[in-house]
Amino acid sequence: MLFRDDRFGLFLHYGIYAVGGWHEQEQWRRGIPKEEYIRYAEKFCPAPDCTEQWLSLARDAGMTYVCFTAKHHDGFCLWDTAYTDYSVTHYTGRDLVRELSDGCAKTGMKLALYYSLPDWHCPFSVNDGRHHRLPEPNPGDTPDEQRYKDYLKAQIGELLTNYGKIDALFWDIPPDDPAETDESINEYVRSLQPGILINDRGYSKGDYRTPERTVPSEPFAGLTEACQSVGVQAWGYRADEDYYSHRFLMESVDRIMTKGGNYLLNVGPMPDGSIPAEAAESVRAVGAWYKTVCESYMDAEFVYHKDIPYGMTRKGNCLYVHLPAVPQSSAVRMRPLTVKPVHASVLNTGEDVRASVEYLPTFFGGNAAVRPEYLRISGIPVNRLTDEVIILRLEFAPSDMDDVLRQLAK
Ligand code: GLC
Repeated sequence: MLFRDDRFGLFLHYGIYAVGGWHEQEQWRRGIPKEEYIRYAEKFCPAPDCTEQWLSLARDAGMTYVCFTAKHHDGFCLWDTAYTDYSVTHYTGRDLVRELSDGCAKTGMKLALYYSLPDWHCPFSVNDGRHHRLPEPNPGDTPDEQRYKDYLKAQIGELLTNYGKIDALFWDIPPDDPAETDESINEYVRSLQPGILINDRGYSKGDYRTPERTVPSEPFAGLTEACQSVGVQAWGYRADEDYYSHRFLMESVDRIMTKGGNYLLNVGPMPDGSIPAEAAESVRAVGAWYKTVCESYMDAEFVYHKDIPYGMTRKGNCLYVHLPAVPQSSAVRMRPLTVKPVHASVLNTGEDVRASVEYLPTFFGGNAAVRPEYLRISGIPVNRLTDEVIILRLEFAPSDMDDVLRQLAK
């Protein structure tokens, strides 16, 4: 179930824009005429095993779901659709949603599909210069919002009936005018896939929020799935991409997951479907770290105390202390906690660290007769683990847990 057992997913932006290798919105951002852009479709060449490669990368990284761009803004469809010839099936004889959904069913991977509301190819789509729409219709287009919605619904009907269970629908680019809110589309989606979760970028509100390339500072009020690409410039394949540092990505995952959010880490496969080496390396590095620390997120609750400058999560009688920023020193001071854990360790490596409740020189308040004692965790191997987000696991005696929670609630 997404948002409970399935917290970490692979976002895949794959489409004919990979042939240009510049950005998934190249058609719009570089003003490429439609007739010219569609030639990318002729060079689009998904390798026979590309969906398997994606699934195995996701699995290796400890991910349990994938979100796939069935149709991005350029309108090119990655499945066998009856409603346009502008599809992978028409050009290559393949149906990538089929291959991916079969692979997911076989391996237990959950599947989410991305579908863009803007469409830069469909002749009915309204391209009128609003955000993420072309400045004007393509030559020969007959824009008609209602006909476009019928087209969109028909395609969603295919995606949600022909490919087994779809766990989530990721709409993109909601209409900017609230007058265009239309509940009936999500209702239709739910009628086809009763258990599906729908994001907040469609014609109506949906079930979960989708902060993009950002970590909101406030606690999350409802279901939240953050998304972030491994590359700075694009979501689709970019030949000359600038890659985020692994550490930056780990910090982002940690901050989101500590607050209970899900995380989609994105890669843009190349025209043949293979994932650029640097992108795959990012996913592997973040995944290797994630697998060592994920117990601190799964089924854990977010804990906040205004005087403790670290992220915290709790599960049973374990408190996890997250150090997403570069640690200042080899110890953390957990004021106002005065309870000593029975066991303290670094989750990343499993090694023990020291726990003590003591009066430290920096706790001196001007009167030597008053010697406040607080929990200190020391001997953290910060200089060895500079490349990762360190997470400490503090296990308390079950009988001490009430005290711990009372002190943290203050
Ligand atoms: C933005 C972009 C789009 C990308 C998406 C991922 O909305 O328009 O290119 O697919 O973010 O969340």
